Amino acid sequence: MPTSLQLQKLKAAAKTAAGRAYAPYSKFHVGAAVLTSSGKIYSGCNVENASYGLTNCAERTAIFNAIAAGEKKLRLECVVVYTPTKSATAPCGACRQVIYEFGPKARVISVCAGHEQIDVSIDALLPGAFGPADLA
Ligand code: THU
Repeated sequence: MPTSLQLQKLKAAAKTAAGRAYAPYSKFHVGAAVLTSSGKIYSGCNVENASYGLTNCAERTAIFNAIAAGEKKLRLECVVVYTPTKSATAPCGACRQVIYEFGPKARVISVCAGHEQIDVSIDALLPGAFGPADLA
């Protein structure tokens, strides 16, 4: 569970990341920030491509940033998503699967420019998930 200070930092990092989005096609800017069990915060934005299907969502960019930074035993406590929209948006299906890989108990919070907020567990977003335990 993030502290209120950590939550504040996560929201700020996600908002800053959204400002770095490369989204010339959809013009939908997304930022994400993740809190690891080691207390660190990593962020990322969506990165689109002229070959649309190659787009990487903000959530996955943030998680891959954590791995690339050397988080060998990455455990996600919390994922915060920010969109500069009126209503909050939950992570897409692909991102839910990747969040589950590293945070089967993660809390997922979506915030936006408006007051709306979504605050749920990954378990609620991806019930009955397939994950690392299925390959053990
Ligand atoms: N997008 C994200 O970054 N995260 C999500 O969870 C949903 C969608 C991005 C992908 C694409 O660049 C744009 O939003 C529109 O789908």
